Amino acid sequence: MAEVLQAAIEELDDKGFLDVEVDPTLDLFAEIEKLKKEKNAVVLAHYYQEADIQDIADYIGDSLGLAQEAEKTDADMIVFAGVHFMAETAKILNPTKKVVIPDFKAGCSLSDSCPPELFAKFKAQHPDHVVVSYINCSAGIKALSDVIVTSSNAKIIVESFPKEQKIIFAPDKNLGAYINKVTGRDMLLWNGACMVHEIFSLEKITRLQQENPNAKLIAHPECEEPLLKMADFIGSTTGLLKYTMNDDAQEYIVATETGILHQMEKASPHKKFIPAPPNNECACNDCPHMKRNTLEKVYLCMKYEKPDIIMDEELRLAAKKPIDRMLEISKAAGL
Ligand code: 13P
Ligand code: SF4
Repeated sequence: MAEVLQAAIEELDDKGFLDVEVDPTLDLFAEIEKLKKEKNAVVLAHYYQEADIQDIADYIGDSLGLAQEAEKTDADMIVFAGVHFMAETAKILNPTKKVVIPDFKAGCSLSDSCPPELFAKFKAQHPDHVVVSYINCSAGIKALSDVIVTSSNAKIIVESFPKEQKIIFAPDKNLGAYINKVTGRDMLLWNGACMVHEIFSLEKITRLQQENPNAKLIAHPECEEPLLKMADFIGSTTGLLKYTMNDDAQEYIVATETGILHQMEKASPHKKFIPAPPNNECACNDCPHMKRNTLEKVYLCMKYEKPDIIMDEELRLAAKKPIDRMLEISKAAGL
């Protein structure tokens, strides 16, 4: 076993996870619970994770909730079932804790659309602007930012700047355009987007609306403007979930990654949730990065404490400042 493990560790950079065979008869749910106790570990999962992972998580949330949870945890090990920038954010907030991720190749197209070297040049061309960055970005971009936002606090944080303050918003042009619209600002937008939220088919959604005339269309602000214009409600994943819990409608067409439907169905079992279809042959829209994580990989990363997030201290400190600012403003706003 020691040799197999050694070989898997050597292949970690290529594969992104420890490729060690797991006994198929093992009860992974029970094993993960055991490891949580043994290692004083907490499992934080994003709503886009597969249902089994959500079911073993200690906390499931949107990006803001996950960052807040990571900041306050007293666990020794944080198991981050999400994508790389989320685990990195947890490490930035917890330098002395071990932060493991089931698969460190779980990236993000939005984060990748904004390389720090290019963004630094863009920023230098606009020295009179402050930089507001969506949390879906690398530590390198966070270090170049004045404040970080998520989809649940972006409006409040942008409005915390005086109206005349010039702002660069990165990396999501769709969320940026939406925030420009709801705040009346004219932020300069980096040209990035999320591969999942950009490919919804308006034609198929319109057909679904005709077939389900009582269904409300709810959408994440990473979607493009034409879809957002059609939506009855726009919000972060937590915002969408809460809306379906408190609203009177019985049917919803949900325009975000399908993982969120698990919690919506659990919270409102009598309601009908229809995933908004993308413009390809699939009926629903999965994030290929989020879905790299599996229950088996969660178990393996907890057991062997790899892959774990390692950060340069100078970069960590620079990236922490705008995250701290976000957490402070959110707290003051009661979020
Ligand atoms: P929220 O969960 O913060 O709404 O973000 C959605 C998302 O795309 C995360 O990658
Ligand atoms: Fe990134 Fe989009 Fe996947 Fe979220 S859903 S992790 S923004 S690619």
